[in-house]
Amino acid sequence: MANLASTTDHTDLDPYSAQAQADPFPYYDSLRDLGPTVYVPGRDVWLVPGHAEAVQVLRNHTDFVSGDGVTFEVPTTRTERYPLIENDPPLHNVIRRSLQPSFTKTAIEAFRPGVESAATAIVDRAVSLREFDAVQVLAQEMPDQAMTLLTGITPPSAQTLADWSDATSRGEEPAGTEEHAALVMESITWLVSEGLPNMPEHCLGRLIVESGGNDGNIDGEGSHRLMSLASLWLAGIDSTGALLGNAINAFIDHPDQWDLLRRRPDLIPNAAEELLRYGAPFRAFFRRTRAAADIGGVEVPPGARVAVMLAAANRDPRQFPDPHRLDVTRENAKTHLAFGNALHVCLGSPLARMEVTSLLTELTRRVERFERAGEAVRSPSQTVHKFETLPVSVVLAEGA
Ligand code: HEM
Repeated sequence: MANLASTTDHTDLDPYSAQAQADPFPYYDSLRDLGPTVYVPGRDVWLVPGHAEAVQVLRNHTDFVSGDGVTFEVPTTRTERYPLIENDPPLHNVIRRSLQPSFTKTAIEAFRPGVESAATAIVDRAVSLREFDAVQVLAQEMPDQAMTLLTGITPPSAQTLADWSDATSRGEEPAGTEEHAALVMESITWLVSEGLPNMPEHCLGRLIVESGGNDGNIDGEGSHRLMSLASLWLAGIDSTGALLGNAINAFIDHPDQWDLLRRRPDLIPNAAEELLRYGAPFRAFFRRTRAAADIGGVEVPPGARVAVMLAAANRDPRQFPDPHRLDVTRENAKTHLAFGNALHVCLGSPLARMEVTSLLTELTRRVERFERAGEAVRSPSQTVHKFETLPVSVVLAEGA
């Protein structure tokens, strides 16, 4: 195994440079050309930008563990570990088995009427406004309502919940601040004092905090149950919101694909996969090594911080021909890594898919075209690739 760390200086390849953050795709292309993994000394991080190598790391949860954190930093102010995403087997599997029955396709189907009627109401409002910020009116509303249906938790407002969810990842970035940590604390305090007491009698929230999940195996000691619920609740907001904002932006840039989808609504499920590939919310998730490990023939040392670059893997031309083109008919779109892969693959993906397809179904019926109505502004988040504001106007379909 070769060790590239000492032979190549990649300080100019900082994933957190302003340029790489603002326009990540050319940066990802240049990274991939440098080999299976690229060490960035200034950040002490090993980047994994290729699809095959990202899958290799995600499938090897023995060498690449989640238990030492899956974000760039795990702040010392945070004493709680997120029970599912930051655990390895066997504990991870105990919790996942206990939650999984609530997340099967069949279980999630029960929420379809609620998600579809939420999509209709959201699009009613957008259509009546004609000109609006797609982040606020479409992207934040859909996950806000879907997660209330799923968990039973009704947040103070969609904006507050979006801010809490945003802070969860931002607090663990190089640019994370105490303000982000305070917002996360605020969300947990609110959950305990107001969210939990006001949940309906039968809901996922109660199943977790009162019964310890479907089989009762989530530990009732300490705050394990509360953190299991809090982490999946917050995980489902910013992620789906980012995807929806990126999706609308993609259709503004590719009106031919929007026209195609309007003519062929049968393509909507595949379009959702292509949008996950093309506009992946998470730039990267991290793993740590405890012993020397291999990434595509390159040895990484013990204690390495490894960034699995999901958004870069989704634009790998070895996996996706012509990767920078949005193609709602793409045959292997579903092999994207936006939801991760293997042991920690996104638990909420059936709900996220339902949200996207429901909103697209309603929008394709009623919106002929999206147009820009002002400058789109990207979020400063270093983890989630998303818009802060996305002003759009809609040209209505006949009879909408
Ligand atoms: C488009 C929307 C979403 C995206 C792109 C997304 C992405 C991801 C990714 C990449 C992972 C794997 C992290 C890793 O390997 O370390 C993950 C895990 C997870 N996601 Fe999502 N997610 C989305 C929506 C949701 C929703 C709606 C929920 C809850 C209803 C949710 C709950 C979770 C949970 C609980 C995990 C941890 C699973 C485990 O460790 O076993 N996510 N998600």
